[in-house]
Amino acid sequence: MWSQLILVILAAAASVRCAAAATSGGKWDMLLKNVGISAMHMQLLNNNRVIMFDRTDFGHSNLSLPNHKCRTYPSNKGTLIVDCTAHSVEYDVHTNTIRPLMVLTDFWCSSGAVMPDGSLVQTGGYHGGDHAVRVFKPCDNGSCDWQENVSGLIQRRWYATNQILPDGRQIIIGGRRQFNYEFYPKTGLTVSYNLPFLFQTNDPGIENNLYPFVFLNVDGNLFIFANNRSILFDYHKNVVVRTYPNVPGGDPRSYPSTGSAVLLPLKMTQGDEVEAEVLVCGGAPKGSYTSANKSHKFVNALDSCGRIKINEAKPQWVMDKMPMPRVMGDMLLLPNAKVLIINGASAGTAGWEMGRDPVLNPVLYNPDENIESRFEVQNPSKIPRMYHSSTILLGDGRVLVGGSNPHIKYDFTGVLFPTELSLESFSPSYLDPIYAYLRPTIISPVSRIKIGYGQRVPIRFSVPGRVKMDMVRVTMIAPSFTTHSFSMNQRLLVLRSEDVKIVGRSKYQIRVVTPGSGNLAPSGYYMIFVVHQEIPSEAIWVQIQ
Ligand SMILES: *[C@@H]1O[C@H](CO)[C@@H](O)[C@H](O)[C@H]1NC(C)=O
Ligand SMILES: *[C@@H]1O[C@H](CO)[C@@H](O)[C@H](O)[C@H]1NC(C)=O
Ligand SMILES: *[C@@H]1O[C@H](CO)[C@@H](O)[C@H](O)[C@H]1NC(C)=O
Ligand SMILES: *[C@@H]1O[C@H](CO)[C@@H](O)[C@H](O)[C@H]1NC(C)=O
Ligand SMILES: *[C@@H]1O[C@H](CO)[C@@H](O)[C@H](O)[C@H]1NC(C)=O
Repeated sequence: MWSQLILVILAAAASVRCAAAATSGGKWDMLLKNVGISAMHMQLLNNNRVIMFDRTDFGHSNLSLPNHKCRTYPSNKGTLIVDCTAHSVEYDVHTNTIRPLMVLTDFWCSSGAVMPDGSLVQTGGYHGGDHAVRVFKPCDNGSCDWQENVSGLIQRRWYATNQILPDGRQIIIGGRRQFNYEFYPKTGLTVSYNLPFLFQTNDPGIENNLYPFVFLNVDGNLFIFANNRSILFDYHKNVVVRTYPNVPGGDPRSYPSTGSAVLLPLKMTQGDEVEAEVLVCGGAPKGSYTSANKSHKFVNALDSCGRIKINEAKPQWVMDKMPMPRVMGDMLLLPNAKVLIINGASAGTAGWEMGRDPVLNPVLYNPDENIESRFEVQNPSKIPRMYHSSTILLGDGRVLVGGSNPHIKYDFTGVLFPTELSLESFSPSYLDPIYAYLRPTIISPVSRIKIGYGQRVPIRFSVPGRVKMDMVRVTMIAPSFTTHSFSMNQRLLVLRSEDVKIVGRSKYQIRVVTPGSGNLAPSGYYMIFVVHQEIPSEAIWVQIQ
């Protein structure tokens, strides 16, 4: 009797979950076989164009600059190299086309963030480019390009991490042999500030703390994870507010033992009491880098994830196990508030020729499921995406995947993992046509409207099929700057909604409350998705200020 009842309840629960979509699956599509460069860094802008770039110091790319433009730079031997190829492109998502861009200084292994006005500010790089600040203001007419200032930074920044701040500045943290941070733009003192934590987490020779994982906490402080340790940092006062416990196992997770991390979706509540949780997944065990470098032994990557509530009185890492090990995986927040883990390898580390056994299957992580059933393995790609690959979320819900070049130069033949110039998309199963009847389309407001903090905003949408009013929610996502398996500035807020009502035939309105402060959502452009039974609409862009 009881067991029958339980069976009925379980069956009902299972059927709800199936009807509500997003089981295993996902679909890969080749978008462009050759974009001319290997997309090492990517950023989506508010006009649905993606800026991609690689590096400028290895010779010719596979894409010519327009109008016979060229660049000359000195080689190591002092002779002049003439290069008439592009090392950066703008990808137009709607037309699936690229446009070559011109850059003079080397932005290899650099970092960046989009400013509140929507322009991409990218910082640092290599050699002559290591102090540069480069600005790309989006345009719709194909006339915009990089503007460079070679002396925009105080310190050289190579493998640093940037985070946009509530006051509209960026903080630029660390970089190779830089145990300090600085701000852009400069206000007041043009100095950099010491951050001993970066010195303490630096393994001499290996430097296992590059591209630290940085998140803006809901209290305005910064959560910083480097190597195998993490702190909460008050950048106003230059003090460590708290030190978190070690992740069990103590293995490194930062470059070159590259794991990845996200700030899990922030669920807005009345009074803006918001819980913040960080999830760190994968990486390479202690000694992997030395083993790969010295003896060509490629150690299995880590298959563990650690999750921590960063504002609890006694925060503890809760460990979980991925379906397979992964180093150099990317973690992306999807519009339905799940996490996609994609790309990378199951052995070795980041660095030239040091990854092995590509992981072709992405996995989905559902933060709201029970710990035993959070992961779902997705369909595989055919293309290994190893060192120097990248991935970002697009406004239509697809995931853009590009890059991969573990070689010092472009190398297409006779090597493991040839240089990849292709662009693919991964469409999570929520884009499957079988869910079209559930998919919302946003009717109003129009894209690129301005909104304020703590405001009520009505959003109108249509859905072809029957709407489950209590299964509609609205998510707001900041587009990330992705490189080296970390998506800087990635942030997802599940907005508080007040009511859903019918306003016409197949037309509905949901009223949401925008976040209360810049600590929750620094000002700038975000994508807004209406999500119905886990199926997201296409995004509109809003500028919160
Ligand atoms: C890139 O250019 C090189 C040199 O011109 C050529 O050998 C190679 O086949 C090209 N690769 C692709 C994928 O187009
Ligand atoms: C292109 O658009 C920008 C504004 O986005 C404008 O400043 C510029 O003058 C335009 N250029 C051309 C050639 O139309
Ligand atoms: C480049 O940046 C530096 C440091 O912020 C600034 O002093 C200088 O004026 C900038 N140069 C240009 C041409 O904008
Ligand atoms: C990696 O190997 C190279 C050449 O064998 C050596 O010069 C370098 O010091 C090694 N690096 C590390 C971190 O072991
Ligand atoms: C963290 O990494 C450091 C540097 O490699 C190492 O000395 C330390 O033992 C690690 N911590 C733990 C708890 O394993």
